[in-house]
Amino acid sequence: LRGRSLSVTSLSGLPLWDVQELPIEDLLFFEVAWEVTNKVGGIYTVIQTKAKTTADEWGENYCLIGPYFEHNMKTQVEECEPPNPAIKKAVDAMNLHGCQVHFGRWLIEGSPYVVLFDIGYSAWNLDRWKGDLWEACHIGIPYHDREANDMLIFGSLTAWFLKEVTDHVDGKHVIVQFHEWQAGTGLILSRARSLPIATIFTTHATLLGRYLCAANADFYNHLDKFDIDKEAGERQIYHRYCMERASVHCAHVFTTVSEITAIEAEHMLKRKPDVVTPNGLNIKKFSAVHEFQNLHALYKSRIQDFVRGHFYGHLDFDLEKTLFLFIAGRYEFSNKGADIFLEALSRLNFLLRVHKSDVTVVVFFIMPAKTNNFNVETLKGQAVRKQLWDTANSVKEKFGKKLYDALLRGEIPDLNKILDRDDVTIMKRAIFSTQRQSLPPVTTHNMIDDSTDPILSTIRRIGLFNSRTDRVKVILHPEFLSSTSPLLPMDYEEFVRGCHLGVFPSYYEPWGYTPAECTVMGIPSVTTNLSGFGCFMQEHITDPAAYGIYIVDRRFCSPDESCNQLTQFLYGFCKQSRRQRIIQRNRTERLSDLLDWKYLGRYYMHARHLTLSRAFPDKFHAESAPPTTKGFKFPRPSSVPPSPTSSQHSSPPNSDVEDEDERYDEDEEAEKDRMNIKSPFSLGQIPHEKKKQHGEHKN
Ligand code: UDP
Ligand code: G6P
Ligand code: GLC
Repeated sequence: LRGRSLSVTSLSGLPLWDVQELPIEDLLFFEVAWEVTNKVGGIYTVIQTKAKTTADEWGENYCLIGPYFEHNMKTQVEECEPPNPAIKKAVDAMNLHGCQVHFGRWLIEGSPYVVLFDIGYSAWNLDRWKGDLWEACHIGIPYHDREANDMLIFGSLTAWFLKEVTDHVDGKHVIVQFHEWQAGTGLILSRARSLPIATIFTTHATLLGRYLCAANADFYNHLDKFDIDKEAGERQIYHRYCMERASVHCAHVFTTVSEITAIEAEHMLKRKPDVVTPNGLNIKKFSAVHEFQNLHALYKSRIQDFVRGHFYGHLDFDLEKTLFLFIAGRYEFSNKGADIFLEALSRLNFLLRVHKSDVTVVVFFIMPAKTNNFNVETLKGQAVRKQLWDTANSVKEKFGKKLYDALLRGEIPDLNKILDRDDVTIMKRAIFSTQRQSLPPVTTHNMIDDSTDPILSTIRRIGLFNSRTDRVKVILHPEFLSSTSPLLPMDYEEFVRGCHLGVFPSYYEPWGYTPAECTVMGIPSVTTNLSGFGCFMQEHITDPAAYGIYIVDRRFCSPDESCNQLTQFLYGFCKQSRRQRIIQRNRTERLSDLLDWKYLGRYYMHARHLTLSRAFPDKFHAESAPPTTKGFKFPRPSSVPPSPTSSQHSSPPNSDVEDEDERYDEDEEAEKDRMNIKSPFSLGQIPHEKKKQHGEHKN
């Protein structure tokens, strides 16, 4: 490679990497994905969070390619003229020939350029393009598979665009990275047409892996035994699997998101990935180090409000001793581990009951399913809560006015008379309105497939119906969260911050952004040793649970054993004091640097170097050694005993040993006490709570 060498920054002691800098001014870099500006799942998160570091490196020479959807364009993209002449010529040429190609800046951090193709507008070419694909690689797509047909249109438009760009690129070299099989046809066609581009294909899962796991196959013990052509055929995804496999084999460089998916790809797609590119996040540091703790308290109070409404009439549990757990993601019941989670919750409910615990656990399932909007009972709950709030306020105002008048007269009012009969009646009516005939609902929406829905069916089977005696309460919210929701007006990030523990006991999870996102927000989470993230953390942390990363063994255990282990994690978590939770959150948040794109982006850089050296060997050679994080490990936190002597070795201790995370808690509070500074939180409630913690600590 030409250019000077630079050392990629090290964050909190993570290893450095020396890399040859690319001559960016002589290059163009495109990334193609169906989830560009179009949120479906984690691929959107990859592209969106990585944009900042990639745009910082590539500037104007970086551009994303995705599908056009009117709503996405209107809400996320600012249309503009392409500044790059080759891109402009390509967009103009295609628009002139009956396509609809949009160009603009995606309004996310880094504001990268995007080219978006209107798939429907070009659908009339479908038959011709099916012929092209057949000629290129003998893959035929059945007419009834709408998604695969859309992907062919997307791929054909991408290949056409790249042809136009390379025709006008004026000596620049072009790198194109294609994500997932949906973008793969563009790669197959570009290679079949010998376009002068260096290609990378990144898979975020394998089709067969996802299907076989969802069908409850003993996947990881039979990786080398599946007759993959037959399996794909039987599942009617043979053509998709061919598109995926052809993309993998056409690419100069093949990458995937984790070691575990690399092994899977070797068996399911018959090529060993050249580079593993772990997924990062765009980490924002607050100027106040413990701001994330304040945010937790702030958003927790919003969730508590929702819970007050949802459980109206049944609020016989203490919200200060209530923990909020959640699972979130695309609704893949067993792949995402919702099955063992429910089973573990039933066991946890039993344990909390028999041990007469005063802790209540409210568990949210945030998994989109088909619905007919919110159900009446759920909406009513929030209305009842609001009514009680209004009643309390109006009585409070009257009370306040009478008290004020009395004081002006120089009297202490008779507190038994200060409320008149009307006030008492209003309050009684308010209390009566909280009577309900039914239990607090287990779902917030009217489910279309109510009787067959796997979560609801399991809840019915295990009997977790939110009855008063249940210590574990469940709420299925079958829609992604949004700050504009009339029911729970919080966006996903706010909700995560307000919860205590994310639970993601996946069986099939090539990476798994949800626990990673918890980590960088300082919220502990449960993951597994079958998820890319879980394995990555296991490799880089000496005692993951001490840092709030609970890794369930789903690889070497029976489902029942895994479920027991999960139950023990959950039960252990419930037994922690508030102080222990605060310490654990501090530790969790300390792991953020490991997941920063500023650090993990180096794997993508390496893949780009490699593809250039393979596609244009006379111009580029990959001189840099591949980056590695091998050998790096977060040590056991100093206050955790060195060997598992205590039964709960992973929980922050209630001992006198001090470590960094504890010092925050104590020093800050001591300082506040000394200066007699009130906490910025409402009603001085929080300092009072903290005093209690010190009491807890001493006992
Ligand atoms: N997510 C979201 N809103 C929600 C729940 C989840 O935006 O209410 C996002 C979450 O932030 C994460 C993505 O959905 O980035 C899921 O990605 P993951 O890699 O965990 O799973 P995938 O769906 O890709 O299999
Ligand atoms: C944060 C806040 C504290 C609050 C605590 C509650 O740490 O800074 O003021 O007491 O959260 O923690 P919990 O785990 O009980 O929600
Ligand atoms: C896929 C995987 C998920 C991963 C995401 C981003 O959708 O299911 O585990 O986090 O892609 O790579």
